[in-house]
Amino acid sequence: MIFTEQPAIEAKIKAYCEEHGIPLIPLEWKPLPFSGKWGISTSFFAAAAAEARSGKNVVVAQRAQEIAGQVKNMVSDVPGIRLVEAVKGYLNLFFDTQVYTRRLVDAVLEQKDRFGSGPATGQRVMIEFSQPNTHKAFHVGHLRGTILGDSLCRILEFAGHELVRANYPGDMGLHVIKWLWGYLKFHNGEEPATDITKWMGEVYAEAAQRLEEDPDLEADLRALYARWDQRDPEIVALWERTRKWSLEGFRQMYAALDVRFDVYYFNSQEEKPGKEIVEELIRRGIATDERSQGGAVFVKIDEVLGLKKEQFHTAVILRSDGTALYATEDLALALHKFRDYPDLARSVYVVDVRQSLHFTQIFKILEIAGHPQAQKCSHVSYELVNLPGNVVMSSREGTVVLLEDLLREATTRARAEASKKNPSLTEAQLESVAKAVGLGALKYPMLARENTKMVTFDWQTALDFNGQAAPYIQYAYVRCNSILRKAGVDISDLQPSTFNYSLEPAEVELIDWLSRFPSEVQRAAAEYKPLAIASIAYDIAKAFAGFYDACPVVQAELQVRLARLRLVAATRQTLSNALALLGITAPDVM
Ligand code: ARG
Repeated sequence: MIFTEQPAIEAKIKAYCEEHGIPLIPLEWKPLPFSGKWGISTSFFAAAAAEARSGKNVVVAQRAQEIAGQVKNMVSDVPGIRLVEAVKGYLNLFFDTQVYTRRLVDAVLEQKDRFGSGPATGQRVMIEFSQPNTHKAFHVGHLRGTILGDSLCRILEFAGHELVRANYPGDMGLHVIKWLWGYLKFHNGEEPATDITKWMGEVYAEAAQRLEEDPDLEADLRALYARWDQRDPEIVALWERTRKWSLEGFRQMYAALDVRFDVYYFNSQEEKPGKEIVEELIRRGIATDERSQGGAVFVKIDEVLGLKKEQFHTAVILRSDGTALYATEDLALALHKFRDYPDLARSVYVVDVRQSLHFTQIFKILEIAGHPQAQKCSHVSYELVNLPGNVVMSSREGTVVLLEDLLREATTRARAEASKKNPSLTEAQLESVAKAVGLGALKYPMLARENTKMVTFDWQTALDFNGQAAPYIQYAYVRCNSILRKAGVDISDLQPSTFNYSLEPAEVELIDWLSRFPSEVQRAAAEYKPLAIASIAYDIAKAFAGFYDACPVVQAELQVRLARLRLVAATRQTLSNALALLGITAPDVM
């Protein structure tokens, strides 16, 4: 909602309140649902309530309406405001439709790829996401976290925050030891060529399977873990070399997905500082050390807090043999981040929902230990991805669906769809369409769903040119493009739009969706909810399809044509901005 009159109107209200001794309460404005006109509303209940509290004998609701009624007369002559109402304590302002439309379209075309962005908040936010494990495959479960985290970064940045994109690959732990064991035993000397991550996953799966088949091999594994723990140079060197392979595989995958990071943390680096924190917790009596009795080190959080009911349960923070656990490392990592970025306003972890208790415990233990940063940490959780046929996504079983395969299949399928739809595309065009549409088809379903609900991914829905899917939205963008091309004008040459004709309902609908984009960006950022953007991108595309059917552009008479061309350009820009927040691009033709 573009509300340029706000300062003028607030000044008038303020002057009136001062003059009449009405308490000055900051006004909150909310857009009104479209009712033939665009409008915005605020209320005077807070002012009336403040009067009542100060001892004046007033009935709040009545008094709010009284103030609204008086203020109404003060603001009815503001240019651009068509109608003012005072209803039940609310002040409703309605804009002149033509003025409003022009203002919106002009704003979009002037702000271009910044349309919808928020003013700088001065807040730095770290979002940790993706966090694949080295020496393992990258499967579709990681894919959701990667796409979700990337989109959240884009949205929060656009909304006005300063972002730190962080990754935390699991580069040490039992899974790595298993891999090293399997490599030494069955693949010694081999090196990966293409599809590195896939190969790493295969070596892991084979090792895991052999270990499962023969429990006697467990002793081998323990021995290898002990060698790692003593930093046996041979093992350390092998680990370093093979870890690099995984990281190179991830780098290639992130490039293919158009995802980037500012900082990498590794859990191998957090082992030592984590153990130190554990020692400190034991010394201070926060953690219980039962290692001498063959037990582990743990924190009975509820007991420490004196809670009667079970809430945080007990967290194990060190193994009985003194080796670091996942939790040991997370204690250190949380603090490490604030050492690197002392001004972080928030430290967000995008991790699947199964780890909710883990993060609640880690943040609570740090809080108990007196680290105020813990209160700035939060876990944004997401549910897993379900594939038709219920393919199990575990790297222990052979049946994982790997990112490499998904990406290839997406591109192949997108290419087939695109050439069916438009046989006149050149080879080069087909290639770029396949890339953009394939990637969109993978990303959109991961984002167009509540984070906490399971995503069911299937190709038919993902590549639907007529339903709520990326290709449909990309196609709307391409149509805008082709109208503008056909018209043969350069939008930047056109005068600011005058919409001095009566707008068609389909036109109003489209304008309405465009005008909501900035507030949806804010909502998506505040609620960590890319779904809000995925939805409005679709709504704009759908409204555009309605406009396309009902409103001639190139054929319309001159004044209407020019105004509509600018509206089409504004639609194209808003679609492109929305898609960018989802990490999706639109091809120029398709
Ligand atoms: N690598 C872990 C996994 O695949 C996720 C790490 C999440 N981040 C963290 N700080 N623990 O389960």
